[in-house]
Amino acid sequence: MPTTLPATMQVVQLTEIGRPPLVVQKPLPMLGDTDVLVKIAAAPINPSDLMFLQGRYGLRKPLPVAPGFEGSGTIVAVGKAWWLRPYLGQRVACGTPDDGDGTWAEYMRTPAMRCIPLQPKVSLAQGAMLIVNPLTAWGLVELSHTGRHAAAIQTAAASSLGLMIVRHARRMGLPLINIVRRAEQVAILQAEGATYILNSSEPDFMNRLADLSHQLKATIAFDAVGGDLTGTLLTGMPNGSRVVVYGALAGDRVYVNPAELIFRQQQVEGFWLSDWFRVTSLPRLLQIGSQIQSTLHADFRSTVQATYPFSRVNAALAHYQRQMSAGKVLLVPDA
Ligand SMILES: NC(=O)c1ccc[n+]([C@@H]2O[C@H](COP(=O)([O-])OP(=O)(O)OC[C@H]3O[C@@H](n4cnc5c(N)ncnc54)[C@H](OP(=O)(O)O)[C@@H]3O)[C@@H](O)[C@H]2O)c1
Repeated sequence: MPTTLPATMQVVQLTEIGRPPLVVQKPLPMLGDTDVLVKIAAAPINPSDLMFLQGRYGLRKPLPVAPGFEGSGTIVAVGKAWWLRPYLGQRVACGTPDDGDGTWAEYMRTPAMRCIPLQPKVSLAQGAMLIVNPLTAWGLVELSHTGRHAAAIQTAAASSLGLMIVRHARRMGLPLINIVRRAEQVAILQAEGATYILNSSEPDFMNRLADLSHQLKATIAFDAVGGDLTGTLLTGMPNGSRVVVYGALAGDRVYVNPAELIFRQQQVEGFWLSDWFRVTSLPRLLQIGSQIQSTLHADFRSTVQATYPFSRVNAALAHYQRQMSAGKVLLVPDA
């Protein structure tokens, strides 16, 4: 490791599930042969991070650990593998390793394969949000094409990811019914030019959902909410439809009437980006990463509502949870 690196780094550390994270100094991590060391520039707070902090996420790590599933930065050191040399100095979007500190740290060790080189026109701020939401939006829209669905439905449509699905579906020619829960979110979707928008808080929601989904033959739904809404979707959609649950924003179980599954051949399934990575080849992944960067400003951009230093991580978490629809909150190392 080059001697110009400091001996210690600033890290946001989760020491106990459910307790606010602390900010500590700790030694820089050791690199394995195929690892790189990323000097982190920025990392977002995503719903998956909130679930991780609460012990509700599908991946658990031994504590204490730095949270943060994605971020951006510059590669400042590489492992022994000869093919890593060109990576030195590269600006990258990076994902966390399965077994160590995440992106809410001044430096992160991660396998080189978890890094996507950033194109020059992509800023480190947008690059920090290049993996989790854009690739999920891509993967979900791809499901509707491989399943030959004429149209799709999505819930939590005013989320950062939901807005990416709106734009990407439009580019792919996929008619999309967007469900939100507040009038302000209807306005956000209108500003995006979305055609079909339903507010689940309005009294005629169920009838409008049934009418529109039958009219458009929307037989796939991307559901980020869960709870009662999953069952409501299945009830409103045409026979033989599938609901792909990819988020748990309601913080509740999924409630489904078994009659929908037995008598109407409705299906419920899950989507997890980690599984999608396992079935997507590296060349395909790099190709998609490059296409996403080429259309980043048009389709896959994220709005940043605030940026906080690591030392104010708990204020940042409170800010984000107060108004999630206003955009992402970024964390950056203290100056
Ligand atoms: N499965 C995967 O691999 C994967 C990958 C990436 C993301 N995701 C999921 O995708 C979803 C969106 O992520 P994001 O980063 O785009 O989120 P985000 O930008 O932070 O936005 C969250 C949105 O969810 C809405 N929301 C929160 N609680 C809700 C509820 N109980 N019912 C309806 N809407 C609710 C918020 O609206 P309000 O302003 O009204 O609160 C806000 O519009 C999350 O569930 C996340 O976990 C899953």
